[in-house]
Amino acid sequence: MDGFAGPWLDESDDLGSTSIAISLGILQECVLELKKQGRPVRIRALYVEKDKAAFGRLEKYLATRTPMGIESKPMLGDFIDLRQAVLNWCTTNAFAFFFLDPKGWTSVGVNALQPLLERPQSEFLINFMYDFLNRAASMRELEEQMIQLLGEAPEVNNLHGAEREKRLLGVYRQNLKRLMPVAGYYPARSAYVRVLDREKDRTKYHLVYLTGHHRGITVFMDISEHLEPIQKLVRTATKQASRAEKSGQDELFAASDLIEADSHSVEISEVEQFWLERLSDQPKRFEEADFADMLEDTDWFPGDLQRALGNLIAADKVRNLDMPKPRKTKFLHFKKGGERLQRTTGT
Ligand SMILES: C[S@@+](CC[C@H](N)C(=O)[O-])C[C@H]1O[C@@H](n2cnc3c(N)ncnc32)[C@H](O)[C@@H]1O
Repeated sequence: MDGFAGPWLDESDDLGSTSIAISLGILQECVLELKKQGRPVRIRALYVEKDKAAFGRLEKYLATRTPMGIESKPMLGDFIDLRQAVLNWCTTNAFAFFFLDPKGWTSVGVNALQPLLERPQSEFLINFMYDFLNRAASMRELEEQMIQLLGEAPEVNNLHGAEREKRLLGVYRQNLKRLMPVAGYYPARSAYVRVLDREKDRTKYHLVYLTGHHRGITVFMDISEHLEPIQKLVRTATKQASRAEKSGQDELFAASDLIEADSHSVEISEVEQFWLERLSDQPKRFEEADFADMLEDTDWFPGDLQRALGNLIAADKVRNLDMPKPRKTKFLHFKKGGERLQRTTGT
């Protein structure tokens, strides 16, 4: 379900750049793939929009362009007012994915989302406007708004850059997760990806992901990791183009040579130390849920953890007891029951 569907900033008939067209395309791929695997499923899609003109375009698009095998429905109104209607549409047992991409932040505050967060079998992808939050978080007069958004007003006046970002995001994620149901052994989990401003040296917004299953975290972080270099390249190329326009000269280097060091990337020695602290001279099994815990606790990428483990194995500080021959990547296979790691004596 898309809670703030638009369309927005796309005048084309095929709405190609919007979440409406993109989500329907992805759902169609799912329908076809699951059918091929002999696992037919019923897939429905709900789009909420409050602006009448945008809703008119949405309604027309869904009526004429919804792919075969998907049931779609537009709903006119304010997402917050419609929360119960949305929940009714979702039914109680089906899996539901909520995509929430509002223009501001009031509709995705912890309190506003509470009734949806409490629904079992649900995942969320929320556009979190960090720019606003970053400016507002230090202002006393905005404290009440902070509480509505984050669930509390954390003290961040002494924090800067990446540290401040991590703390604010951490509070938001923690308070969202607190409201999600725990299904058996599966606690609520969350991760996020930073979306960089194309032109400025800062984060534009975050996509915060919430799930009840560890597989969601390992897959989400893997996708985010592969997105990161593309984002940096786009940003560097945009900045380079604007400099070239100003100076009237082409730049000497390709954008890919110029990607700046990122204050958010982690020192590999820090990741190695993190592994060593989790290991002892007794074999310890690491399964996918353990790997998801590490991703969630640190916000590092899967590749950071794998590279650091590879370094420790190469230096004979750690052994993977279930790795029959040397590997170049993926030093831990965490799926299918995982693998056992052990610190060598002397480390
Ligand atoms: C950032 S745009 C979403 C764009 C959309 N994801 C896309 O890719 O085109 C936000 C949309 O949500 C609508 N909107 C804003 N507040 C809303 C609310 N409280 N309830 C429903 N729709 C809302 C706006 O009219 C706008 O079309």
